[in-house]
Amino acid sequence: MVRLFAACNYCSRNHHATKAKKFPWKMALGSTAVLIIFLFCYSSQLFVWPNVWLAKKADSRNATLTPVSGSKMFLLNAYLEHRTWNASIRFITIAWRSEKIDYSCVFTCNEGLVPSPAKLTVHPSHFWFPYGTADLLCEIPPGCSKLRAAVTTVGGSTSNLTFLPVRNQKRRESNFPVDFTICHSTMFNKYNNVLQFVQAMEMYQLLGAKRVVLYKTDCSPDMEEVLRYYRDIGLIEIIDWPIDKYIKVSSSWIASESPGDLHYYGQIPVLNDCVYRNMYRTKYLFMHDPDEIILPLQNVTWYEFLSTLEQKYSSDASFYFENNVFPIEELEESGKYNLSQWAGIPGVNFLRHVMREPIPKRHFTTGKLIVNPRRLFEISVHTIKKQSHRTVEVPYDFARLFHMRRRKNTKLKREDLVMDKALWRYAPEMIRGVDHALSKMDLPSRRLNSAVHP
Ligand SMILES: *[C@@H]1O[C@H](CO)[C@@H](O)[C@H](O)[C@H]1NC(C)=O
Ligand SMILES: *[C@@H]1O[C@H](CO)[C@@H](O)[C@H](O)[C@H]1NC(C)=O
Ligand SMILES: *[C@@H]1O[C@H](CO)[C@@H](O)[C@H](O)[C@H]1NC(C)=O
Ligand SMILES: *[C@@H]1O[C@H](CO)[C@@H](O)[C@H](O)[C@H]1NC(C)=O
Ligand SMILES: *[C@@H]1O[C@H](CO)[C@@H](O)[C@H](O)[C@H]1NC(C)=O
Repeated sequence: MVRLFAACNYCSRNHHATKAKKFPWKMALGSTAVLIIFLFCYSSQLFVWPNVWLAKKADSRNATLTPVSGSKMFLLNAYLEHRTWNASIRFITIAWRSEKIDYSCVFTCNEGLVPSPAKLTVHPSHFWFPYGTADLLCEIPPGCSKLRAAVTTVGGSTSNLTFLPVRNQKRRESNFPVDFTICHSTMFNKYNNVLQFVQAMEMYQLLGAKRVVLYKTDCSPDMEEVLRYYRDIGLIEIIDWPIDKYIKVSSSWIASESPGDLHYYGQIPVLNDCVYRNMYRTKYLFMHDPDEIILPLQNVTWYEFLSTLEQKYSSDASFYFENNVFPIEELEESGKYNLSQWAGIPGVNFLRHVMREPIPKRHFTTGKLIVNPRRLFEISVHTIKKQSHRTVEVPYDFARLFHMRRRKNTKLKREDLVMDKALWRYAPEMIRGVDHALSKMDLPSRRLNSAVHP
């Protein structure tokens, strides 16, 4: 029970990032509250995507994961780490946590291959699965190339190394190629929430996003076409994530629910990789899923909103937004946005769900983050685990995380919910954007339908 308990971040509403650590564990242990907390916590961690174990393999044109021979570790990517005293390289990895092995990075240098001892850090957000996210940090020896590096076990063979290109060669603290990038984690299980995904992409663009990064395990044929469109217009960058070819992943955040060796399709290594990958390519990173939108309430765009936050808290801070659940079971009554042109498009319609669950005084922090990636070292789903600056919780009336999902607090009746139509402010432009995007897509399901009913 202690483990389950510790896996949640239990905080009061006006929490600060550091408060979570001060929770009096002993007091609560043994009380029935533990069970209640667990159930609440547990339900909060389930996402809208169904939990079915997936054996389907995604194709990988690029090797996403590189095994380290002599160990169970996999490497994701190598990044130049500009924030250490001496120039270093950080590998983002997935490590078998009980394995006690010393690693070395290997560099190509003037005098040939040179090893450099690696400092292994296992991230705390492993949810007690045997595999967890880890990183390996190595100083670059003088006279060695920073362009490529490999990893070996200490004493292991250096005859058959895979050298990875080192990303983030150029450090930037201003003039970023884009201001706002969104990191979506893993797409899996024949993902087919087409309408919701298209609406989210159009909303993000209206608000100011220039790039969305998505790690894809697999999705439906319709979604392939949606992704094709957004890749062609330069919005989405798709990173193949055939994690199930390498590791038996869990479809849950907890092993007893879905056995496996790694938490939730590898969400944590993906989020960390996304932070490093975009460190010098974007001013801010939004870390959330396509069923979520962070909506400014007193400004129209993210530009206006983030510049207001910067003035107040500086651009070194990261920002936390509490979760606001809009149950998809509750439809808006007038049917105003039940649009005939979207009939037959699979997926949730953001505009039809305007009832939100009120946030209780004391609750679990299952919200999401806007981060300055250059100030981060380790991130989890709802919290930053290691950073050089602080996280600010953004007040509730200033901006709100809209999260469309099935009911979370099942005790609430419709009359307990709060009507919230803030998203409707954007409806006319969003609908125009969605209709335009759909008109440029050739969805296979529509092709079939029109063949049957010409
Ligand atoms: C990786 O995939 C991209 C697109 O899928 C392709 O353009 C690139 O050449 C591939 N790289 C390698 C090393 O295979
Ligand atoms: C940086 O490198 C120098 C020379 O190799 C070494 O003496 C020093 O300890 C390193 N500094 C840190 C903080 O690791
Ligand atoms: C070298 O690595 C490749 C791919 O990882 C593997 O197929 C091959 O057996 C290895 N060769 C040796 C001699 O270890
Ligand atoms: C954004 O909202 C803040 C108040 O929340 C306000 O002070 C600021 O003027 C707004 N910016 C714009 C451009 O409307
Ligand atoms: C939504 O509109 C369609 C017609 O486009 C209609 O058939 C359907 O019953 C409506 N659904 C609801 C829940 O109002």
